[in-house]
Amino acid sequence: MCGIVGYFGPLEAKKVILEGLRKLEYRGYDSAGVSILDGPHFKRVRAEGKLKYLESRLAEENFSGHLGIGHTRWATHGAPSERNAHPHEVRGVSLVHNGIIENYLEIREALIEQGAELTSDTDSELVAHLIADEVEREKDLLAAVIKVLPRLRGAFSILVVWERQPDRLIAFKDGPPLIVGLCEGQALVVSDVQAGLAYTKRFVYLGDREIAEVLRGPVRFFSAEGKPIEKTITEVKWSSEAAEKQGFSHYMLKEIYEQPKAVSQALSPHLHIEKSEISMDWGQQDWDLTKVQRILMVACGTSYYAALTGKYYIEKLARIPVDVDLASEFRYREPVLSPTDLVVTISQSGETADTLAALRLAKQQHVKVLSLCNVKGSTIDRSADGHFYMNAGPEIGVASTKAFTCTLSVLVCFSAHLAKERGRLPKYLENEIVRALTELPGQLELVLSFDKYFSEAAIELKNHRGFLFMGRGVNYPMALEGALKLKELAYLHAEGYAAGEMKHGPLALIDRHMAIVMLAPADEWYEKTISNLEEAKARGGQIISIGTVGDEKLRQLSQRFLAIPRAHWAVNPILSVVPLQLMAFHLADSLGHDVDQPRNLAKSVTVE
Ligand code: G6P
Repeated sequence: MCGIVGYFGPLEAKKVILEGLRKLEYRGYDSAGVSILDGPHFKRVRAEGKLKYLESRLAEENFSGHLGIGHTRWATHGAPSERNAHPHEVRGVSLVHNGIIENYLEIREALIEQGAELTSDTDSELVAHLIADEVEREKDLLAAVIKVLPRLRGAFSILVVWERQPDRLIAFKDGPPLIVGLCEGQALVVSDVQAGLAYTKRFVYLGDREIAEVLRGPVRFFSAEGKPIEKTITEVKWSSEAAEKQGFSHYMLKEIYEQPKAVSQALSPHLHIEKSEISMDWGQQDWDLTKVQRILMVACGTSYYAALTGKYYIEKLARIPVDVDLASEFRYREPVLSPTDLVVTISQSGETADTLAALRLAKQQHVKVLSLCNVKGSTIDRSADGHFYMNAGPEIGVASTKAFTCTLSVLVCFSAHLAKERGRLPKYLENEIVRALTELPGQLELVLSFDKYFSEAAIELKNHRGFLFMGRGVNYPMALEGALKLKELAYLHAEGYAAGEMKHGPLALIDRHMAIVMLAPADEWYEKTISNLEEAKARGGQIISIGTVGDEKLRQLSQRFLAIPRAHWAVNPILSVVPLQLMAFHLADSLGHDVDQPRNLAKSVTVE
């Protein structure tokens, strides 16, 4: 959702904030703005649209300063426009906000009754009014925030400055992340560590209903009631270069191409090649997973499709029943949980609001939660009982790619580990899985080297009116993911289906205008999938198939055949999803769409 950056220090604040906002633009790109303290007053510049419009506005301005705040917006209350862009300023108080103030109407009515003049349609401006009123009475920004915080309901993170106290930034939150970067003689507040990595690797994650008073260097932390609190410092290992495009035209393309390396990084803590062993450690040595009777996997978006694949892995290898839920459904459907369940949350960002709410619900019901995140120290990571990681490195493209394949790789290890703990992983099978995972990075390289063919296939897809992605078994979730990628990036209607469901509806859609993307690698579901493919072909469907190299039968049945290397069944989806990612990328790019920042979407969905 929205991105926040605040800076106070010896450098030019405008420059530091813009640099940070560039790193955060993936969070929201409806509008952007900055407020910089120039002399006794803030100078504010805002612009509708992407950050580049703000940058060109700023290039026309001649002001400078060392204290400031900035924001990229993903609209919740009020249309994307300059008047609704942040920062919001009220009588010397300048504020940026990410999230939603749920009691917005009640506050708005009270403010209007008191004669407040509102200049935007946002809930954020209302908070600036409340703080401006309090600061006039209290003469201190921290004291004003302590008064206002109890009046706010919802999920929010807020950074505020006041021109009469030009030596501090005040940050507070209840919901979406807000992080203080610690560096000598300067201060940074960001909504994602990526925006601060160029200056520091030491960060403090603000907890819910906590306040940070950030001076130039020292930082003090308080509870919502104003009591001083101690916070722990998290050292982040990512480098700032890892979050750059490094010569690629798009972050997404770079991230697709990084998959061999990312997957090998993801596997390395769990895969012991010399001993031909798989083992996992989630920081909870005393957990006895042999007592777990059911696993509930909860996630959103692409992470949800990873969870669906995890169900196949775990049930097949470890024979533990697995339920998979969309977090937005789980949190409201009054799930029946028992102490012998284990909840596994999957989230790249570790900040998705619904996944976090699902995790909290499970914890309230005394069920253990294991989190699989990419961002170490994120709210979901910190809130879970046990932790393991995607280790994919920073993912900036809004549509998830490398985090997905890393998640699948880690889930193969997780399933093997569970199977082993239950005495269900014979050594020959462990050897087989270790070998398959060891070969995976090289096989991914090979798939990437066929990109030219994926790009040609993508251009042909342009002529179709509809898209059906189909697969069976572990490739069924890949069909869902392929369709999602096409929707997200190319804005074309696509559906993912279990191939065995074709007779229950999708067959009616098939004619020569319909493209069928069939996932049919050589595995135990192959014969059945081929029958489904024949049915689609007989009805005029144009077949693009993804199958195992050398499969002449499949090649002949297809208008276009895209090959992946011969691999273990558990590894097949990790290979077969790559052509789908690249086809969606090339198609969207050829249509002139912004691949890294698709319209209306955000990387990290920190509000419901
Ligand atoms: C958004 C992103 C998706 C992502 C989903 C879940 O919709 O655009 O790429 O899969 O959120 O995010 P998470 O960070 O929880 O994996």
